[in-house]
Amino acid sequence: MRLTVIGTGYVGAVHAACMAEIGHEVLGLDVDEERVAVLAAGRPPFYEPGLSRMLQRAVTTGRLRFTTSSVEAARFADTHFVCVGTPQRPDSGAADLRHVEGVVDALAPGLRRAGHNGALVVGKSTVPVGTADRLAERLRAAGADADVAWNPEFLREGCAIQDTLRPERIVAGVHSARAEARLRAVYAPLLAAGTPFIATDTATAELVKVASNSFLATKVSFINAMAEICDVVGADVLTLAEAMGADSRIGPRFLAPGLGFGGSCLPKDIRAFAERAEEIGRGDSVAFLRQVDEINTRQRRRIVDLAQRLVGGTFEGRSVAVLGAAFKPGSDDVRDSPALAVAEEARRRGARVRVHDPEAVDNARAAHPALQYALDVAKACERADVVLHLTEWSQYQELDPAALATVVRNPAMVDARNTLDVQAWHSAGWQLCAPGRPRLG
Ligand code: UDX
Ligand code: UDX
Repeated sequence: MRLTVIGTGYVGAVHAACMAEIGHEVLGLDVDEERVAVLAAGRPPFYEPGLSRMLQRAVTTGRLRFTTSSVEAARFADTHFVCVGTPQRPDSGAADLRHVEGVVDALAPGLRRAGHNGALVVGKSTVPVGTADRLAERLRAAGADADVAWNPEFLREGCAIQDTLRPERIVAGVHSARAEARLRAVYAPLLAAGTPFIATDTATAELVKVASNSFLATKVSFINAMAEICDVVGADVLTLAEAMGADSRIGPRFLAPGLGFGGSCLPKDIRAFAERAEEIGRGDSVAFLRQVDEINTRQRRRIVDLAQRLVGGTFEGRSVAVLGAAFKPGSDDVRDSPALAVAEEARRRGARVRVHDPEAVDNARAAHPALQYALDVAKACERADVVLHLTEWSQYQELDPAALATVVRNPAMVDARNTLDVQAWHSAGWQLCAPGRPRLG
């Protein structure tokens, strides 16, 4: 089949490459000329395991091309996946739908022509419930002959390809049998491999995405709230999470306590959902999401306060080493990164902060130029008064605490992600603090 993928950011670039991989002819459209040039050369504009080889394959075989022309995209295919961003509005927590609306407006004239095989605009972006219907109305008003479906993505950065090609479910919000058949055809190889296909209306499909992310965010904030309680009573949140997670009704995933969630999705999605619920008169139904957000943001402050106590009550004249800048390991994405929020706050309070990350230093430097950066861990930790472990890259778990103790000025470590072997660090002479865990040293 011929498909277009509009918006070749994180979601769109992965979707485009994966659709070419399963045999479709794909045209990627983006307003960013530089990005289009990079992708057309078969290079991913961000770090994602496996994407580079897949893109190269798809571009070399000609199954995947890129353009900046909406006219060309409208002409190329009948099925258009919309993957542009839906960022938080600057003036509120609501989603900014300008990009999604702009894409539809740009496509509309090209969808008017007769003899068209019934265009289908498929939204993948995360949007407030009701958006698909509004876009369908917008297309109708522009005289375009097009149906709108919603097919949310659930991909996690770091395993985006697997999440696209072997998803746990495909959700298709449709208003016609034709739209459902079209989406079944697009995903035929995945369905043949046994992927569940949940066909529903567009409102339910839109809600599945925001409800799922809200649930995940709630789970993380729940365990972080428990960590706060553990800190007061001297209990151990890791054992608590393990024992809770052993109950199959609860499950162990998304119960990792620590610095909380960041990234381009969870924080903005819960805020947008809370705002949308207010708009439809049901703010009280998801009022707890405001607390989920608050608990999450509080973890960042808690870690900075803890570090400040460890360096003697003031950051003035102190050196802080930060391990991790990406919002989670396996990604170079620093959007709403809890690690960088902590690093920036320590700097604001007077510390000299040096940050290490195996993949995200370039993005971090662009977003936070006032922080200092180091290309290896030892350099970041040189003469540090405290080391903050803020993104749990596996290489940090393999560090040699004894060797690192000789580099720092003061062997004090905050394991904000609760993944270091605290006993080993303690035995090597480190004072170790981790949220929700009994203090060692
Ligand atoms: C995606 C989803 O679209 C978003 O709704 C979801 O919540 C998170 O994941 P993401 O892929 O991370 O967003 O967005 P981003 O990396 O910002 O990429 C968006 C791309 O769309 C950019 O390349 C941008 O240049 C492009 N774009 C934006 C257009 O092509 N046209 C526009 O009008 C606006
Ligand atoms: C998320 C959703 O998982 C995905 O389905 C959706 O499509 C996009 O948003 P992503 O943002 O890539 O994916 O990251 P995810 O793996 O969900 O992690 C989100 C954040 O939660 C990270 O900052 C991570 O460090 C944090 N997290 C996750 C915890 O703090 N504790 C946990 O137990 C799990």
